Formats: sequence, structure tokens, C-alpha cells
Amino acid sequence: MLAKPQLLRVQRSAVIQSKRALHDLVTLPGRKPVISYGPPGYSAVSGHVVTVFGCTGFLGRYLVSKLARMGTQVVVPYRDEDEKRLLKPMGDLGQIVSMEWDIRNEDQIAECLRHSDIVYNLVGRDYETNSDHRNFKFADVHVAGAERLAKVAADHGVQRFVHVSHLNASPTSTSQFYRTKAEGEERVRSVFPNATVVRPATMFGYEDKFLNNMANWPIWWKLNFGETKIRPVHVIDVAQALANLMSIPQLTRTVSLPGPSTLTYEYLLELVEALTYRAPSRAPVVPKPIALAVARAAQLAWWPLMSPDEVERRYIDDVNVPGDWEAVGVRPDEVENHAITYLRRYRLAKDYLRPVLFPARPS
Ligand SMILES: NC(=O)c1ccc[n+]([C@@H]2O[C@H](COP(=O)([O-])OP(=O)(O)OC[C@H]3O[C@@H](n4cnc5c(N)ncnc54)[C@H](OP(=O)(O)O)[C@@H]3O)[C@@H](O)[C@H]2O)c1
Repeated sequence: MLAKPQLLRVQRSAVIQSKRALHDLVTLPGRKPVISYGPPGYSAVSGHVVTVFGCTGFLGRYLVSKLARMGTQVVVPYRDEDEKRLLKPMGDLGQIVSMEWDIRNEDQIAECLRHSDIVYNLVGRDYETNSDHRNFKFADVHVAGAERLAKVAADHGVQRFVHVSHLNASPTSTSQFYRTKAEGEERVRSVFPNATVVRPATMFGYEDKFLNNMANWPIWWKLNFGETKIRPVHVIDVAQALANLMSIPQLTRTVSLPGPSTLTYEYLLELVEALTYRAPSRAPVVPKPIALAVARAAQLAWWPLMSPDEVERRYIDDVNVPGDWEAVGVRPDEVENHAITYLRRYRLAKDYLRPVLFPARPS
């Protein structure tokens, strides 16, 4: 038997839940009306169904969490059982639907997206995995894979397709990664003309391959004498921008999401050293031909190491285009505001609680 105040609260929430407002109803062309109900938050039902390809990656987990927290049902296609397990508790019971998929299998792709209002494509790889014992080249994932996802989505009447590319995507880049990203954008547009293409810059966060890699392998960030310019962006800002796309009118253009400041690798290495209380790295600056030779030799390993294309990318400045943050309703944060959260674990025990001091930013 419930106590009286508790009973009243239950009754009141039942009344609130039974109310309907006009904004609870969304009609999408060619689809059933979408009706949201319940309180806002984790246990709400927004009525929307979303598929996030690439949900098991760094950006994917933050996007799934943000979508699920709005009460959206999220289909999470996965390749490895263990990779999708952490996504399950991000939504209420039944809201996270995992489905096994292969990027080469159109039937499986169709199964994953045929109930969805929006499809996000976050699939990408920053190294090639095509040799005797591996499967995918850049073009297989960024071009053919992206086109296949967009085409199947278009064939099944999905209303919106959001394709995540890279800020530096360019058909004339010296990096094959950036060239295939640009070609992928074009192919997506050719089969899904209304697609939104999102171009984030290099992202930092807990699981990044950026600040963590700087803390572990400073030598590889000294290439080009640390002079390469980069516009780092917080992964949570990019995930928020992607989640916000759901609730604003469809953007049928390219949305650039660079960080708020342009910084050099040299400054960022200093920042990592200052935050982790480590002595400056005395590693030499490796000349490009030697770095490329080492990266080529590292290709023989069956686990991912520095690839030759990654060496090439360390010499390419981030493009100087304005950010489209206003269009997605997010204000991006500076790297200094979050770096300690992700780097404190690299401090020695004796330094763990020491103050957070920043190096001077170069003018
Ligand atoms: N990280 C950055 O700094 C950054 C910056 C700009 C743009 N981007 C782009 O943003 C997107 C997300 O980045 P991220 O850092 O989250 O990447 P990530 O951690 O490497 O995750 C990539 C995702 O793509 C999936 N994937 C890769 N190859 C696949 C294949 N052959 N078949 C099926 N799935 C495949 C992975 O699935 P598995 O878990 O099964 O491997 C994973 O879910 C990518 O397109 C990336 O290029 C990233």
C-alpha cells in the first residue's frame, strides 16, 4: 500500500502523461505520424526511430547516449558482440535495438534502417585494413560503403540521412583518407541529394586517438617540427550538434564543425606535458621519409599502428573555414576546458591532485 503523498504523485504523473499537445505530433511525408508521450528524459518515448551506423566508435557512443536520453529508439548496428554491449544501458528498456550488420550486405543494411526517420552514418576508419589478412581499404568504407548506406536509405524512404565526413575532406588532398572522404560525400549526395554532410575537425575526448596518443607517443606529434595547425573540437559538442539535427529543419548542405581555436601540435604537446606534470619530451624530430618508412614497416603488424597516410596527415593544416555551429545550436568549447578530465590519468600518484596550470598560448 502506497503512502498518501506517494499515491498523489503517482496519480498526478498519470494525469500529466495522458495530456497531449500539438508538438507531440510530428508528421513525416510518407510515414506514420510520430507521437511522443511520457515525461521528458530517459523514460520518455519521442516516437522517433534512428539508426546510427558506426555507433560502436568514439563519436558513436556519445551520439547514441544523447539520442536515447531524449527517448528516441536507437537501432545500433554492430559487428562485434562486445562492442555494442556498453550501448544497451544508454536507453530505457527496449529503446536500444542492436542488429548485426556487414557494410557489404544490402539486406542487412535495409533491416537496420527500414523503420527509421533519420539515419546517421558515422562509419569511418583512419587506417586501411586491406592486405592478405585484412578486409577494407579507405575507398571500401568511405566511398562504396557510404554510397551503399545512402542508397539503401533512399530506396526505403528514409527522410533524412546525416553523413559524417572530415573537415579536411578534399579531392586534391595528399592524404588518401581525405580524398576518399571527399569522394564519399559526392557519392552520398548523388544517391541522397537531401543528405546533410557534417565535417568535424579532429575530436578530443576520453577515448580519443589525439590527446591520449600525444601523452603516449609525443615523438609522432613532433613531425613537421610541431608546426602543423589544427582546430581540435570536443567530441561531446559534435555529438550534441548531430543530435540537434533531429529537431531542426533539414539542412541539405555541408556543416563544418571545427573547434573554436587554431592551435599547433607544438602548443598541444606543451599543454599535455603541463597537465600531466611530465618533463618535455626529448624525442628528436623524425624526418618525413624516415617516418614514412617506419609507418610502412609497421603495416606488417596485424594490429593498427601509425599508418603512412597518418604520417601524411600530420603535415596537413586544418582548413580555415568558418564553423556552422549556430546552425546546429551549439557553442564549441576550448580544449583547455576539458583536457584535464581526459589527461589526469597520465599523472603520477604524487602529482595527481596538483593544480592545473596551462602553458601560454602562442600569439
Ligand atoms: N575521431 C576524429 O577525430 C574524427 C575527426 C573528424 C571526422 N571523423 C569521422 O567521424 C566518424 C566517426 O569517427 P570515430 O572517431 O568515432 O571513429 P572510430 O572510433 O574509428 O569508429 C568508427 C566506426 O566505424 C565502424 N567501422 C569502421 N570500419 C567499418 C567497416 N568496414 N564495416 C563496418 N563498420 C565499420 C566501426 O565499427 P567497429 O566498432 O565494428 O569497428 C566504428 O563503429 C568517422 O567517419 C570519422 O572518419 C573523426
